[in-house]
Amino acid sequence: MITLDNVSKTFHGGDETVTALNQVSLTINKNEFVAIMGSSGSGKSTLMNVLGCLDTPSNGRYMLNNQDVAQLPDDVLSNIRNQNIGFIFQTFHLLPKLDVVGNIMLPLRYTDIDQDEAMERVSSLIERVGLSHRKHHKPFEMSGGQRQRVAIARALVNKPKVILADEPTGNLDSKTSEEIMGLLTELHDSGQTIVMVTHEDDIAAYAKRRIVMRDGQILEDNQ
Ligand SMILES: Nc1ncnc2c1ncn2[C@@H]1O[C@H](COP(=O)(O)OP(=O)(O)OP(=O)(O)O)[C@@H](O)[C@H]1O
Ligand SMILES: [Mg+2]
Repeated sequence: MITLDNVSKTFHGGDETVTALNQVSLTINKNEFVAIMGSSGSGKSTLMNVLGCLDTPSNGRYMLNNQDVAQLPDDVLSNIRNQNIGFIFQTFHLLPKLDVVGNIMLPLRYTDIDQDEAMERVSSLIERVGLSHRKHHKPFEMSGGQRQRVAIARALVNKPKVILADEPTGNLDSKTSEEIMGLLTELHDSGQTIVMVTHEDDIAAYAKRRIVMRDGQILEDNQ
């Protein structure tokens, strides 16, 4: 599914160069559930941005679904992103003016799926994440856990090959975090590939594989 081959990412600011990823090689197979850990600044988000085709490596090769995506122009990359990746963020990233249906529907605007099928998909996802009683609520009318459920449904609506979650429980209390991790576990059990960044051991414990980053490199991988 995902193969990184000696991937590096450097940032240049003024006369300083930061090596955020330093020759990372990594394979993630279909239906894996991977936790990425490591201290602040170790390169976790940079790695997620590269995996999610939000950013390209400075060096190295990235094969996503048998396609070399390391050096593609932005428009091609954004198509690949829409077709392959679902994102979940710590701060949900929902549109405040749209209700639950509208937020989940959003990624389908950029596809040619017809309206009936779109509505059907959105309804079944709303049911799957347990929000059937909140279809027309706006984000500000919902709890953090409910907002994250909306974000998870939105991430799934394009049937992505991979879900990338950057600290999905970072803004949630521990009980709500458990509920959200229960939902991600269900998705994994039904075949979804998930890569998740977390700082917390008890959250990482839900994943089957744990990768620890340090200074832009993989320090530990209990594959
Ligand atoms: N756009 C950028 N421009 C310059 N430097 C950057 C940029 N993005 C990240 N960096 C640097 O790259 C390194 C890795 O950053 P990254 O955001 O990947 O860390 P992280 O592991 O996600 O940290 P945190 O746990 O705090 O989120 C850091 O030294 C950071 O300052
Ligand atoms: Mg980060």
